[in-house]
Amino acid sequence: MLFSQGENMKIAILISGRGSNLKAILNAEEKKQLGQAEVILVVSNNSKAKGIEIAKSFDKKTISLEANNFKTKEAYEKELGDIIENHSVDLIVLAGFMRILSLYFINKFRNKIINIHPSLLPSFPGLNAQKQALDSGVRVSGCTVHFVNEHVDAGPIILQKAVEIVEDESEFSLSEKILKEEHKLLPQSIKMISEAKVKIEQNKVRIVK
Ligand code: GRF
Repeated sequence: MLFSQGENMKIAILISGRGSNLKAILNAEEKKQLGQAEVILVVSNNSKAKGIEIAKSFDKKTISLEANNFKTKEAYEKELGDIIENHSVDLIVLAGFMRILSLYFINKFRNKIINIHPSLLPSFPGLNAQKQALDSGVRVSGCTVHFVNEHVDAGPIILQKAVEIVEDESEFSLSEKILKEEHKLLPQSIKMISEAKVKIEQNKVRIVK
């Protein structure tokens, strides 16, 4: 159980840049399409992230936490973890958060962190997933929402959506096509988790109807 039943599921969204997935989540919340979930906090590791302005325009609390203000990765993650705990966050959503979290942080919040990745995992983890897909010549790619574990882009998969790769597809056009699906898939996943429809069993997700 990720949160107390009958109460809202409190979410913190972690970003690093553009924030289009953040915006999709906030739009869904505004339209009451986020189930029992409530965005209570947006944390950025980059104080210049465009996503911070988006969060503010939705009247959300924002915190900038720049890594270079901390001596070590441990100190950074200790502070991030304290912020999450002090806000009684139930679910951490990585929406374009460009830092790899250490085992310390992942263990502290195990099964409470989700991420969106622009490929059909386990294909093309890591950076430049759209380019990796094009370079490999696959005919479909897509996006994946998954729980975060100690391996990069490898935790239990919640939802995936495929998109077709056409002849002469560019990295830009593929990224746009995938992003459009990301904006539906991430709010949908959050909604399902908030309604307790997402269970992890033997390292796989089971969707409860
Ligand atoms: C998205 O493509 C997401 O899949 C990846 O980072 C990008 C973030 O974009 N993890 P945005 O900041 O949400 O616009």
